[in-house]
Amino acid sequence: MSKTKYALFFILVTSALAFATERQPNATYHARRQALSEKTNGGVIILFAPMEAEGPNALYGFRQEDNFYYLTGLSEPGVGLLIAPAQAATGTTPARPYTEILFLPGHNISQEKWTGPKLGPDSPDAQRRTGFDRIAKLDDIRDEVVRILPQPRAMVFTDQSKSSGSAGPIEWLSRANAFPNYIGFGDVNPVIASLRVKKDAGEMELMRKGTDASVSAQFAAMRAMKPGITEREISALMQYEFGKRGCERPAYAPIVGSGFYSTVLHYSEDDQTVKDGDLVVIDVAGEYSMYASDITRTLPANGHFTARQREIYNIVLGAHDAAIAAFKSGASSLSRAGENSLYQVAYEYINTHGKDLHGEPLGKYFIHGLGHFVGLNVHDVGDISAPLQPGAVFTIEPGIYIPEEKLGAH
Ligand code: GLY
Ligand code: MN
Repeated sequence: MSKTKYALFFILVTSALAFATERQPNATYHARRQALSEKTNGGVIILFAPMEAEGPNALYGFRQEDNFYYLTGLSEPGVGLLIAPAQAATGTTPARPYTEILFLPGHNISQEKWTGPKLGPDSPDAQRRTGFDRIAKLDDIRDEVVRILPQPRAMVFTDQSKSSGSAGPIEWLSRANAFPNYIGFGDVNPVIASLRVKKDAGEMELMRKGTDASVSAQFAAMRAMKPGITEREISALMQYEFGKRGCERPAYAPIVGSGFYSTVLHYSEDDQTVKDGDLVVIDVAGEYSMYASDITRTLPANGHFTARQREIYNIVLGAHDAAIAAFKSGASSLSRAGENSLYQVAYEYINTHGKDLHGEPLGKYFIHGLGHFVGLNVHDVGDISAPLQPGAVFTIEPGIYIPEEKLGAH
């Protein structure tokens, strides 16, 4: 291949790889970074994407960290970002405009033979493609941090969880004296969470696509269900169905639980054979361009509920519908208590309909919360005790699990 042809090939392949997921417009990620910078009271944000896993942890491939993806839409491992809010002039310090830099590692050509081409600081269109105001070499990060940190020195906000992709590099920067001793560190996670809880139209669209694909997978499971099929076959079929519709992976460990296992909440062995007369709980959904869906359906294995299975199924459905009917935007919450609690509505419904084998009410068999936020994570960030605001995306998923009767409905 001629040099020019090779360069063209390299750029085309890089484009395809860098944005394997469906990305929102650059301006959206830019606006999120700027909004974040306005919430840190002058603090600078420094974050790093995790490195690619090696060994057994590499089995499922690289997935970008949620917050890093939210702010960049980039699926590159090992890259860093710095965001500094605009600052007014103080004393001898001149004003500084809003500043953002994406730090990219230099090309490692021999490694890229294995991992495929990566975006590098010298990629001619890195700025246009990522939408960052500035691109710099990761090797230069220490000097850039020293240059940009505001005077008087302010907080550095980063991901403070020990296992995060930021922990190692921040420690390295500290040792390299990038931050004078008296600088404080803040946790950026709650600040980003306050932005992430409100989904924009583009995020909703991705979630709709993931949900449509997951609905198709649920229908496929309904058509395939029969006594003698294995839970694993149902799970595999569903992963194929949502994968074929663009989902990159399951949004959470697929749960296909039959008979007794329909009552086990986070059952993911999926290694039983479905028996005649079983109920089967199928809690399976895909992730589309990083955004989770979450769908559960309960089926009779042989296509026909027993009277008791139908009774319990209908109580769960009634609780679900009652919670939805009670929902008031800006007032209802997912918390377990309080006058606006949707959980209470569902619990009351379950506790006042039907009985267990001992004549006791069924409330005690509703053993989990009513729902959770969904977004980049299936259990997405957000305060479940706060009133649900426009833009929030959440599940409503009551359930009744009676192990004694091998009967779970969700
Ligand atoms: N659907 C899985 C979960 O919510 O835990
Ligand atoms: Mn769920």
